[in-house]
Amino acid sequence: MERIDLLITGIGRLVTPPGNAPRCGQQMKQLDIIIDAALAIREGIIVAFGTSQDVLELMRDLEVVETIDVGGRMVTPGLVDPHTHLVHGGSREHELALKRSGVSYLDILAQGGGILNTVQSTREANEQELYDKACRSLNEMLLNGVTTVEAKSGYGLTLEDELKQLRVAKRLNDTHPVEIVSTFMGAHAVPLAYKGRPEEYIDLIVNEMVPKVAEEELAEFCDVFCEKGVFSIEQSRRILLKGKECGLLPKIHADEIEPLGGAELASEIGAISAEHLLSATDKGFAAMAEHGVIPVLLPGTSFNLGLAKHARARDMIDTYELPVALATDYNPGSCPTESIQLIMMLASLNLKMTPEEILTACTINAANALGRGESIGSIAVGKRADLTIFDAPNLAYLPYHFGINHTFGVIKNGNVIVW
Ligand code: NIG
Ligand code: FE
Repeated sequence: MERIDLLITGIGRLVTPPGNAPRCGQQMKQLDIIIDAALAIREGIIVAFGTSQDVLELMRDLEVVETIDVGGRMVTPGLVDPHTHLVHGGSREHELALKRSGVSYLDILAQGGGILNTVQSTREANEQELYDKACRSLNEMLLNGVTTVEAKSGYGLTLEDELKQLRVAKRLNDTHPVEIVSTFMGAHAVPLAYKGRPEEYIDLIVNEMVPKVAEEELAEFCDVFCEKGVFSIEQSRRILLKGKECGLLPKIHADEIEPLGGAELASEIGAISAEHLLSATDKGFAAMAEHGVIPVLLPGTSFNLGLAKHARARDMIDTYELPVALATDYNPGSCPTESIQLIMMLASLNLKMTPEEILTACTINAANALGRGESIGSIAVGKRADLTIFDAPNLAYLPYHFGINHTFGVIKNGNVIVW
């Protein structure tokens, strides 16, 4: 007799974007919703879902090992956070007063603080300390309903320290229920030792770091902080093309503060995603649409930096039909929060995205920003059973009732992790 490992019953509302592909423009609003649903899992994979009546009928002659009743709650795909700086040492609350007195993010960095402060703390920490700290953050993310997280390096800025961060991310992936997707970001800042000699640091990234990271299979993606006073378009192009040559797919921190043309660069080199984009131009959006680059928006960062400006999500969706994704950007400087539910609220408030668009952005579009649209990001037969159970009557309730955690349960690979 065929076996079902876990049968989930009593789903008041099952809500999911359809299919595996990124959902562009108006498609972002279109979700499949099943009222009074059930879902069956075998070996970590969704094998059936539908109305309770249909699924229970299917289960009649099968051996069901375990059944859980979610009491009428809402079930969505497990959330995906496609942009974080998860692994790092220390924290930067000492910069809060400076920030509040009006000193800008880039000025703090230019004075040797900001990212460079966290570089110091990360170099001083050993692997176990980095692991323990990241593990606590990962637990928070999981409790928020997140089942897959991208993690960037970029606080080591020496070969050994970058490898140290990436090894910690690998160990987290091996030991924690949340899946970690690693990105090498040696080009996060020019380290103090190379002050005034950025080209020499870029030589080190291109000649030593990228090949070593690729050889040790410690990352899938390569990212650059392409920003005025950090890495230029030309420097970013050189690093990202080397990454691509070594099998690390390009991602880019693009047009966050100044409109340098990062969105255009992402399009030119075939990046999977361009992230931040507060200052990206219409030309940049058009290029991204033409080349299938996914915009990853980070409304927690503009909020926390106190910027008057926000990413133009409405134009990206309505005019350029882009497949917008959302992420926390969790990091110790510009966005110290693990809460994807806070990000959902800010996407509603400041990016004017609808609850349906927000769910699409946090599931299938985020999964595609990590090259994982085939396996996660939507509820479909054959996909991994990554599910979040919300104690909320409907989707709009999530950004509406803000500042609390609505997660009731989380299932990862068919295992009940949070309940
Ligand atoms: O995405 N912009 C560059 N990197 C991070 C911030 C990192 C930090 O401040 O430590 C970001 O916002
Ligand atoms: Fe970032």
